[in-house]
Amino acid sequence: MLKGLIFDLDGVLTNSARFHLGAWNDLAKELGINLTPDQLDSLRGISRMDSLNLILKYGNQEDKYSEEQKEEFAAKKNEKFVEQVGKMTPDDILPGITKLLADAKSQNLKMAIASASKNAPKILTRLNIMDEFDGIVDPATLHRGKPDPEIYEKAQELLGLESNEVISFEDAQAGVEAIKAAGQFAVGIGSKQLLAQADYIVPDTSKLNLKEIETAFNKYEE
Ligand code: BG6
Ligand code: MG
Repeated sequence: MLKGLIFDLDGVLTNSARFHLGAWNDLAKELGINLTPDQLDSLRGISRMDSLNLILKYGNQEDKYSEEQKEEFAAKKNEKFVEQVGKMTPDDILPGITKLLADAKSQNLKMAIASASKNAPKILTRLNIMDEFDGIVDPATLHRGKPDPEIYEKAQELLGLESNEVISFEDAQAGVEAIKAAGQFAVGIGSKQLLAQADYIVPDTSKLNLKEIETAFNKYEE
């Protein structure tokens, strides 16, 4: 029986994913690396340092910089991202999300955030939806990032639920992989090709309908 929902944040509740990807793309260019659209998309859901390392790998520059230089690059990217976050308002909540959260509340579903972002509390505060959630996984406590299931397992634990009692929402390929590895029902938001592993896929958040998703979930859990 469905008892809880777990949400990724960037690209699911709000469109901040574009700020992450934009800032990474700028940094990559500064380093002389031209990322393909698929390479850029593969950064979704990946932690700050893992994203930087992946970019350097795409540019065959894995061993070019010291850890200190890499910290500087990551800090520079984060500065740019935080600047964008500072301009966010509740209007930046993606279409369909406010209704989805309200529907979940009216069904007494518990809700948690499983975001790799250390900026998640800041973003949720800007969007004025911090209080909607019963738990937020602190990414600093994680040993492994998405696609490892750890973050989704932790979110489920925070809610005190079993894997067959939750539905998790993601826009990232690595995130959908993490949800499936945690044994949970995955809703993918985005491309059918990239998110093929998800149990239910919508092209964008405006198509999210809790009743329909729940029907698919109940069939899956039968
Ligand atoms: C994820 C984003 O939510 O958080 C990634 O999808 C980002 O793009 C990651 O790299 C880490 O975010 P932050 O804010 O800690 O750098
Ligand atoms: Mg995301």
